[in-house]
Amino acid sequence: MKKIILTGDRPTGKLHVGHYVGSLKRRVELQNSGEFDQINIMIADAQALTDNADNPEKVRQNIIEVALDYMSCGLDPAKSTLFIQSQIPELCELAFYYMNLVTVSRLQRNPTVKTEIKMRNFETSIPVGFFTYPISQASDITAFKATTVPVGEDQMPMVEQTREIVHKFNSVYGETLVEPEILLPTNQACLRLPGTDGKAKMSKSLGNCIYLSDDSDTIKKKIMGMYTDPDHIKVSDPGKVEGNTVFTYLDAFCKPEQFERYLPDYANLDELKDHYKRGGLGDVKVKRFLNSVLEEELEPIRLRRKELEKDIPYIYEVLRKGSEAARERAAQTLSEVKNAMKINYFDDAELIKAQSEKYSG
Ligand code: TRP
Repeated sequence: MKKIILTGDRPTGKLHVGHYVGSLKRRVELQNSGEFDQINIMIADAQALTDNADNPEKVRQNIIEVALDYMSCGLDPAKSTLFIQSQIPELCELAFYYMNLVTVSRLQRNPTVKTEIKMRNFETSIPVGFFTYPISQASDITAFKATTVPVGEDQMPMVEQTREIVHKFNSVYGETLVEPEILLPTNQACLRLPGTDGKAKMSKSLGNCIYLSDDSDTIKKKIMGMYTDPDHIKVSDPGKVEGNTVFTYLDAFCKPEQFERYLPDYANLDELKDHYKRGGLGDVKVKRFLNSVLEEELEPIRLRRKELEKDIPYIYEVLRKGSEAARERAAQTLSEVKNAMKINYFDDAELIKAQSEKYSG
């Protein structure tokens, strides 16, 4: 069986370092590993509209931001198909048929949807489109016969829902769809990178994100203001590293060889943590180190972005071509789905023959 990736993001803002360690960096590695037969990366504008119906301009403006972030991280249109969800109408058609295979109560149990409903104060006025987006996401994944879905931990319930739909479809209509596997980050810190304020989730409205497109001064300011251990007041105080955002970021980003380069007094992160726990290591020193580590990772991305920003029409052209290619793939799957469901009447010579025999007496 072919190894196929499908993944994507909602274009509701620029991408941040949480997106990067949670999924984006891995996608680039998978792309360059040469192990996959096909890689599809989708800008999920239609899904973004399910809870932004009154603000389509926000979605429209952020498509290019996400595309720039993707390509500056190293997603390469020569190796990966980058496309826009709304340009693939076949996805809606698939979702319409999958809706018959999912119950309302099953959707109500989806933990990610539950949290999002709370976050958006939707309790009494959930848009139907939003409520059903896990089904639409199953269309996204199955339309490409994806075997592998590299995403953040919050997307686990969506992939689970997709697998259920695949099972149900295949058992009712015959083996047609491919069951996808989720691919999560292996590093615990990358699984759920906190905001700079130590809050569990990075979000634009909380103002606690470090964006891939932030300049180096902005990043430095954000790091210097980061949440650490509130009880670590004097340098000599013993400090906590659990729940200390600066150390969580180091867990996610730092590489062993960076100690030699920036903090030669320590052999590795464990030694640095031990010193902090014992007392005698100040926050500023650790923050400066984190700044150097992040700068190493983000500077090349920032520079590539600057180059890409010089030719915006080219980026739209990449997305247009990608959307065309994606549409062909989705159309192929839709045709197989309709065959399996036997709603391909005009291609069904047997049906036409049987019906005419019925009437020719
Ligand atoms: N739900 C994803 C997000 O919030 C975006 C998305 C839409 C997606 N369809 C997908 C991710 C299919 C992976 C696979 O960012």
